[in-house]
Amino acid sequence: MIERAAGPALVIAGGTVHTPDGPRRVDVHISDGVITSLEERRSASPGPGVVDARGMYVLPGAIDVHVHSRDPGFPEKEDFGTLTAAAAAGGVTTVVDMPNTVPAVDAGGVLEAKAALAHSKARVDFGLWGLIRSSSTAEQLESLARAGAIGFKAYLGYAFSLGRKQILYTAETDDPDLEAPPDYGTLLRLAPVVSALGLPLVIHAEDPGILAAFRRPLDSYSAILAARPPEAEAVAISAAAAIADSVGTRLHIAHLSSALGLMAAEAALKDGSRLSLETCPQYLWLSDQDFPRVGNVMKVYPPVRTALDRAALIDAVDRGVIRIVATDHAPHTNEEKARPLELAPAGSPGVQTLYLSCLELAKRLGDMWKAPRWVSEGPAALAGVHESKGQITPGFDADLVLVDPRRGTEFRPSLMRSRQRHGALEGMRSSFSIAEVYVRGRLVAREGRKVGKAIGRMVAPR
Ligand code: DOR
Ligand code: ZN
Repeated sequence: MIERAAGPALVIAGGTVHTPDGPRRVDVHISDGVITSLEERRSASPGPGVVDARGMYVLPGAIDVHVHSRDPGFPEKEDFGTLTAAAAAGGVTTVVDMPNTVPAVDAGGVLEAKAALAHSKARVDFGLWGLIRSSSTAEQLESLARAGAIGFKAYLGYAFSLGRKQILYTAETDDPDLEAPPDYGTLLRLAPVVSALGLPLVIHAEDPGILAAFRRPLDSYSAILAARPPEAEAVAISAAAAIADSVGTRLHIAHLSSALGLMAAEAALKDGSRLSLETCPQYLWLSDQDFPRVGNVMKVYPPVRTALDRAALIDAVDRGVIRIVATDHAPHTNEEKARPLELAPAGSPGVQTLYLSCLELAKRLGDMWKAPRWVSEGPAALAGVHESKGQITPGFDADLVLVDPRRGTEFRPSLMRSRQRHGALEGMRSSFSIAEVYVRGRLVAREGRKVGKAIGRMVAPR
């Protein structure tokens, strides 16, 4: 999959650029898809190969480390083409796809087949996570690493259907078709393997024992909150951190949702854990009070909790304790989401509104220039692509977003490019709009519409 992006030389001229030294009025010079220099002088005169970015902010493309393409497996929900059209429209220039596609990505051969499929449709660059099953072997994880996996995800409490080669939203295992979910024993057994490979271990952090003890009919939003208490998150984080620490494994907490989970994570960090934290826009913008307005689109696991949880998470993002904001873009069809609350699957799309929602939050916290840290720099380090992506600096890929601060955007279904035109942040306004998006110097979206062909290619950690 090695190929040179023989893009023409390009200059993004006249904008205010997010550089490692802070915002600067410089021109970004690009050759063969790579940033060659940042130049103070307005050297370029308008003409072919020069993009007029006057009045714009030039930001590094976002790297969304938590998306569910549904491809292969559930084309009615989404595929790599529609996922990456939405990503491009929203300024996300790299997506890292979760392994719960079908067949689940539990070995190198499966990852290679998925990579080939994604490559044929991807409009932005992509990485792929591998899956840890309770039966996973060292050889399987090694084959995933050789095939280019970004790291490994373990879904605590999610069983595996052997017949369908698919993970399910259930911890039941009485059916012989179902393999037991990975548990702390699985993590302890495989942590040394993951550690030796130098890749991160990602967990869906909800303790299955606590979830089992609090099961109940999900006939209201408060029942969902009672069924998935924040203690489940805190316990899973503490336990996984203790296990990872015993062998020095890098541990990453997906979609942190609660103040209690955050406290557990901060305690582990204080003890020296190699822990990275991710939260999502839905936890930063919504609370249980929004359910009557938003409805089932707000049903995600772990759940959106209280305003106090939200305040604690915003504060942790602001302090730089949570270094990554990703979306958990997890589309289901309108029909599925319209089922009664109990039967509607958890998950909603979000990749397209990541950047604009984070810019708005950063602005309200007093410094919009913080947003690229949350969506580009932090994620690049997790994904191991921090030597080529996540910053606007010479030698890095020209993954660039031109943001217009003079025009706002309202998140409306008609603007959404995912196969599912809904989202938990629907109705929200951002003070910014995304004008143009470049992946390795090639224009992939303008004013929310995809441009050009599927030029995305796979990235792997180094
Ligand atoms: O809300 C969720 N949706 N949480 C998960 O853990 C999985 C995801 C999905 O794949 O739909
Ligand atoms: Zn997810």
